[in-house]
Amino acid sequence: MTRLITFSSGKGGVGKTTITTNIAAALHKFGKDVILVDGNVSTPNVSVILGMPRLPITLHDVLSGKAKLEQSIYLHTSGLKVIPAGLSVKHMNLKMRKKMAKVLNDLIGETEFALIDSAAGLGNEAKQAIEAGDELILITNPEIHALTDALKAYEFAKRVGVKPLGVILNRVNNRDWEMTKENVEEFLELPVIGMIPEDENVKRSIAMKQPLVYAFPHSPASRAIKKLAARMIGEDYRTLEPETITEKILRILGFYG
Ligand SMILES: Nc1ncnc2c1ncn2[C@@H]1O[C@H](COP(=O)(O)OP(=O)(O)OP(=O)(O)O)[C@@H](O)[C@H]1O
Ligand SMILES: [Mg+2]
Repeated sequence: MTRLITFSSGKGGVGKTTITTNIAAALHKFGKDVILVDGNVSTPNVSVILGMPRLPITLHDVLSGKAKLEQSIYLHTSGLKVIPAGLSVKHMNLKMRKKMAKVLNDLIGETEFALIDSAAGLGNEAKQAIEAGDELILITNPEIHALTDALKAYEFAKRVGVKPLGVILNRVNNRDWEMTKENVEEFLELPVIGMIPEDENVKRSIAMKQPLVYAFPHSPASRAIKKLAARMIGEDYRTLEPETITEKILRILGFYG
């Protein structure tokens, strides 16, 4: 069975591409068959952060009917399968965007997971990405304006019958002005399924063109993302990735919890 999951936020810049890419990488690391789809066709980022910017066939070519979906699947050096979006917006029109759900439906039966990164906002493109998924994960920051926008994305998903899995709170600093897990659950009426801390290794990993979970597997955000990915497949993170002696020493010394 293929799970088609869209990651959406309403508000831009909250970490959709970062989280989608790293959950895909973590699921791949745990032995799952995963395809990461750049559903943000007007301002694509997935291939850029993974250091694969010039690819001959992209989702644009599939949407315009010039190529078959299987021709647009690439293997990143990490082993993750990626369907990039074209970096040029020249030939992207509304008709093509509307085909996204239909085109991505062809992934059913081809992979265990297809994770779709979506565009910011709630314009046509973001809506198309939500409709292309069977399930939705909302990503937000612990701030009220990000939550308000996430609520709009959630309302749209409900209207079109996409199943919400929950909310990921990203860039958590545990400061007193931040919305808490309980605030978020009450506001959105959805469970918080992951809390990803602010972690400067995210930016380091992007500079290295590698997913964080590969480049800095023990960093705080990396561990939170792996925990969440394990939860998505009904497994315990520590069973999938038992603690090493070094990690144990660092934990006991208080470097992380
Ligand atoms: N947990 C984190 N810790 C530190 N920096 C982060 C974290 N998550 C994301 N970032 C940074 O936040 C910025 C925005 O992240 P990202 O591009 O993933 O957001 P986005 O929601 O996909 O944006 P857009 O709406 O423009 O597509 C990037 O510079 C990224 O490095
Ligand atoms: Mg993005």
